[in-house]
Amino acid sequence: MTRTEMSRSATERSTLFTVVIGLAALAILLQGLWAGIFLQHDGARDAASSWIDLHAMGGYVAIGLAALATVLGLVQLRARRDLWIGSLVLTALLVLEVYLGGLIRDAGQDTLTAVHVPFALAIMALAVSLLLRAPRGSTVD
Ligand code: HEM
Repeated sequence: MTRTEMSRSATERSTLFTVVIGLAALAILLQGLWAGIFLQHDGARDAASSWIDLHAMGGYVAIGLAALATVLGLVQLRARRDLWIGSLVLTALLVLEVYLGGLIRDAGQDTLTAVHVPFALAIMALAVSLLLRAPRGSTVD
């Protein structure tokens, strides 16, 4: 394989990771949209329960995409430890966020909303930082 072909192949791998982590970031951003819709009824959340269900499903989609990005990073971009370790941390934080959301809805622990919302912002920041780092220096092992 020529140097140009190797470089192209590395770029393709990095592009795939970038697409998947970008979709994860989008899914996380949309969580804010669904939450905004079900919170707009002056606290009467049950009136919009289908939006809460969508918010719950969005959480699992985000976890799936972050886990896929972790696998892609490990398999295709192993030398980029910042990317796959970052995606692994993102996956773990999303699992924790979904767990907190479940406690709010199913166990009635409404006070945890004050943790759940800022935690979502921190998760968004991590997802965006991974998205911005991904195309930089597509080193392969
Ligand atoms: C990383 C992004 C987020 C994830 C993965 C996530 C996930 C979840 C999940 C899984 C639930 C439980 C739903 C159920 O059991 O049916 C939940 C509940 C909730 N989420 Fe999020 N969420 C995120 C971001 C946000 C944001 C940005 C807000 C608000 C601005 C928010 C507000 C809420 C509220 C208020 C509930 C409780 C709903 C209720 O009263 O039943 N979430 N979340």
